[in-house]
Amino acid sequence: MTTPTGPGLDLPNGFLMGASTSPHQVEGNNVSSDWWQIEHRPGTFVAEPSGDAVDSFHRWAEDMDLLSELGFNSYRFGIEWARIEPERGKVSRAAVAHYRAMVTGALERGLTPVVTLHHFTSPRWFSELGGWLAPDAAELFAEYARTAAEILEIGVRHVVTINEPNMLAVMHAIRNVAAEHGWESIAHGKQKNAPTGAAAIDPATIDPDADVVHALIEAHRAASAVLKSADPGLKVGWTIANQVYQAEPGAQEVADAYAWLREDIFLEASRQDDWIGVQVYTRHRIGTDGPLPLPEGTETTLTDWEYYPRALGEAVRHTAEVVGPQVPIMITENGIATGDDQRRIDYTDEALASLAAAMRDGVEVLGYLHWSALDNYEWGTYRPTFGLIAVDRETFTRTPKQSARWLGALARSGRIPERPELPEARAASPR
Ligand code: BGC
Repeated sequence: MTTPTGPGLDLPNGFLMGASTSPHQVEGNNVSSDWWQIEHRPGTFVAEPSGDAVDSFHRWAEDMDLLSELGFNSYRFGIEWARIEPERGKVSRAAVAHYRAMVTGALERGLTPVVTLHHFTSPRWFSELGGWLAPDAAELFAEYARTAAEILEIGVRHVVTINEPNMLAVMHAIRNVAAEHGWESIAHGKQKNAPTGAAAIDPATIDPDADVVHALIEAHRAASAVLKSADPGLKVGWTIANQVYQAEPGAQEVADAYAWLREDIFLEASRQDDWIGVQVYTRHRIGTDGPLPLPEGTETTLTDWEYYPRALGEAVRHTAEVVGPQVPIMITENGIATGDDQRRIDYTDEALASLAAAMRDGVEVLGYLHWSALDNYEWGTYRPTFGLIAVDRETFTRTPKQSARWLGALARSGRIPERPELPEARAASPR
């Protein structure tokens, strides 16, 4: 395994360095979305509703000012389908104008916008039709992409059709299992701290629904075709949650089978795309009986994931291997939920060193967008803080953390610095 040490790396010209958010997690009051409905359903598993989130719907300009002042040159944000099309076929011109203003605002501040069309939330009407399993799901999504093209045409180059389709497929399966058990709903497969029945379902044991997997691939292709015909210059891709599955000795076949519907099928489906987004936080070890629990004493984060920064380099190498060298990679999410900002710096430093090593070995990487720009709504709770910028949720005052200044300075320098030594891991690494 390549160690994340090395002589540093001058970032290629045009390399994007920035941070990411998603509409539902930062905007607030996304009332026409299926998630809002889940949050407010009686008996919901959701610990706290999103409410005002961090009010970025109104404060996006301030957020962008901060990011550009900190030294970043890119911002990934999303367009909310439930705002653009709150009822089927009824496009909100005001919402289109809102997101066009955001694109213009980003460009004016020197932030290259990377725009997501779907980030876990759908309009309520779409979910009520059956969501991705609705017979005309791909056409409905492509129709929305046609409207989104009016926003993108004013200067967006990189667009994400669907964020983490592989997580969406898992979430769908979890919801079905939950429904069978008589629970209201479980929508985010990564949430470990969900109250009530949710905690009893270990997402790792539930297989994604193959029909949903294929429906998502079809929707991605349909939307990509519409976007490319609207603007052949657009670079269209999607973002895949990379789980860094590591096979224990003798478990390679089990690991490959486990990874197929959860990740690799989506990577293979990306071979014709213009680029692919890699999103990675930690690793998962697979034994001969499937996923293994973390060994006692492993350092974990506020989302209960193993502290394992070099997952970034490993994810990038795996993606490049499966997708092939013709599709450049962009890191569209990478980060850590922690209340210890020094640990965020340590994590990101080591993650970037592992990225630099992969790039030195020849993997083409277009950018690094940290998750997240702001502390935000982590799908059911505000407790895990992923942000470079803290937000007071009463006054909405934004306060950049030390990590934001550190990463912003690195962005400005255009270089991932030399990193001769690794700090000792806080707990013994299992391998
Ligand atoms: C998602 C984000 C989420 C993050 C941390 C990714 O799966 O795209 O919405 O907040 O991981 O859980």
